[in-house]
Amino acid sequence: MTNAITAGRGLDDAARALLYTEARTANSFAPTPVRDEELAQIWELARWAPTAANTQPLRVLFVRTDEGRARLVEHMSEGNKEKTASAPAVAVLAVDPRFHDHIPALLPFRPELRDVFEANEPMRKHTGDFNAALQAGYFILAVRSLGLAAGPMAGFDADGVDAEFFSDGGRRSTLVVNIGHPGENPWFDRLPRLDPAESVSWA
Ligand SMILES: Cc1cc2nc3c(=O)[nH]c(=O)nc-3n(C[C@H](O)[C@H](O)[C@H](O)COP(=O)(O)O)c2cc1C
Repeated sequence: MTNAITAGRGLDDAARALLYTEARTANSFAPTPVRDEELAQIWELARWAPTAANTQPLRVLFVRTDEGRARLVEHMSEGNKEKTASAPAVAVLAVDPRFHDHIPALLPFRPELRDVFEANEPMRKHTGDFNAALQAGYFILAVRSLGLAAGPMAGFDADGVDAEFFSDGGRRSTLVVNIGHPGENPWFDRLPRLDPAESVSWA
């Protein structure tokens, strides 16, 4: 059976530019709304990307009401408040510290791995944080793939956000991502990337 993978075609140059080479981090947003269907579509894409033992520890809170945004802006760093205030939608990405409870359903051929994680806090924390960070990267690319701009930010008071939004489930917020269409002067100057020779070696 032929599918997108076996056809072996890859994305065209325009799609690669949209995701990588021409994509930018937006610092201001137009008032153009982002529909809930678009936000749902971001996750519908991102959720298929791989994680270790299929653990999928990332959780997403979409904030898109004035009231919710005001609650979130309170906890953003000074330099990030205006950006989040201008974004029509914002995603709070968080780690579920009980992600391993889902293992019997997500990894049905090795359900006992749940108990291995339960008994080993350092391994649980490392796996949760590492794979949630991977999923955060997939999330940003999913935003871009829909023709939307993303503005990821680590500059916020995570304890404050967790108390504000996650007081019941114990989630730990790791990244806030502004989502929308670019506004006035949305980009900073493009910063250089390391030359491949500085990052890549071959064996
Ligand atoms: C994990 C992460 C945290 C970031 N935190 C902030 C932040 O707190 N405030 C901010 O203005 N930009 C933040 N950024 C934006 C980066 O500075 C920006 O994505 C990077 O310089 C690349 O910019 P470009 O996509 O326009 O080339 C963050 C980006 C990432 C991926």
